[in-house]
Amino acid sequence: MSAVEFKIRRENLMAEIGEGNIAIIASAEIRPRNRDVDFPFRQDSDFYYLTGFNESSALAVFIPGRDKGEYILFCREYDATKALWEGAHAGLDGATLDYGADDSFPIDDLGDILPGLLENKEKVFYPMGRDAELDQNLMEWITRIRKQTRSGAQAPGELVSLEHILHEMRLIKSPYEISLLKRAIDVSVKAHIRAMQCCQAGRYEYQIEGEMIHEFIDNGLRAVAYPSIVAGGINACTLHYTDNHSVLKNGDLLLIDAGAECDHYAADITRTFPVNGVFSPEQKALYQLVLESQYAAIAEVKPNTPWNNSHDVSVKVLTQGLVDLGLLTGDVDELIETEAYKIFYMHRIGHWLGMDVHDVGDYKINKEWRLLEVGMVLTIEPGLYIPEDCYSVEERWRGIGIRIEDDVLVTASGHEVLTAAAPKTVADIEAIMR
Ligand code: GLY
Ligand code: MN
Ligand code: MN
Repeated sequence: MSAVEFKIRRENLMAEIGEGNIAIIASAEIRPRNRDVDFPFRQDSDFYYLTGFNESSALAVFIPGRDKGEYILFCREYDATKALWEGAHAGLDGATLDYGADDSFPIDDLGDILPGLLENKEKVFYPMGRDAELDQNLMEWITRIRKQTRSGAQAPGELVSLEHILHEMRLIKSPYEISLLKRAIDVSVKAHIRAMQCCQAGRYEYQIEGEMIHEFIDNGLRAVAYPSIVAGGINACTLHYTDNHSVLKNGDLLLIDAGAECDHYAADITRTFPVNGVFSPEQKALYQLVLESQYAAIAEVKPNTPWNNSHDVSVKVLTQGLVDLGLLTGDVDELIETEAYKIFYMHRIGHWLGMDVHDVGDYKINKEWRLLEVGMVLTIEPGLYIPEDCYSVEERWRGIGIRIEDDVLVTASGHEVLTAAAPKTVADIEAIMR
């Protein structure tokens, strides 16, 4: 955790909010899995982005220009018994000393203190509609202030979405954020290589998943950024397949979409390779086509280029290739116009990547695809999925699913493929599996 980095983020946020206004954001809460057992805690990304504070039952308040301190953190008081059972927590002193809060209060006193902080503020920035309890509390507190207007208190007149400001900030990654992404990616690349090297017909998808998770955890990354997709053969045609329970068959491909999380930053990598280490002619032809579409899409990643260019070019290359291979017939422009290619390529080229695997940030501004900027990170992940019951194509093509996904940083000179160390040419994959 970099204290300076978090401080800069808060200062940037406060500059956006402006004096006379207030911003409020709550932590994630612990969610029960079953009796006495909770899901592993994952902090809310927006909250963590501003605080670096990794506890539940917390709420951060930002009041630009407040004399007694602009950043207030409500959290749990230190409780020795709780610490004995659950481990250390920051407490009120930790909130100020270790996390840079100007002031800290017990979360249990929120209802007594926060209404006072809201008084005489014009706008309240908060993540609207995300936390029903906070929504409701806020309304109650504001109503309470309204009732006191005769004693001179002014209730805030405007509720504003905090997300817009915050997500624009999160969309552009700092060097520190990129270093965390790179760490998540480097470990994930190792896991993909391990999967290629330990893959064998007769092993189960979950065993390959286990090998990858071993690599993540062995390298200190205990959370996956999303449930791993380890899909042999036809399972790859189910886009969100996560059962991972089938046996791997000789002659099939294996599609793996898996990434680790490093200090709240996600890697998102897909590789597809032959279970037996050698592509069949049909697999190679389709794979080569996806790879070419991916190269073409990555080439469009550079500053001032509309986000959608990568998608458009991937559609063009894939549709032309499908016609050349005889899987589609007709005029390429018309097949694109009528979206005939969507039988085989039904998803989009990618998404923003960051703290959330499908990260925050608008894709359009004023209804136009936004232009890429230095510091944005996105995935480029074209694919082809030939359904088993697609009788319009020769049988030899059916049941093949391929996706190749890389994580790409927009740089001043164009882009950097952060996941470049994960093998993806036919020759490199066959070599590493030999
Ligand atoms: N792993 C989710 C995605 O590729 O979007
Ligand atoms: Mn992705
Ligand atoms: Mn993915």
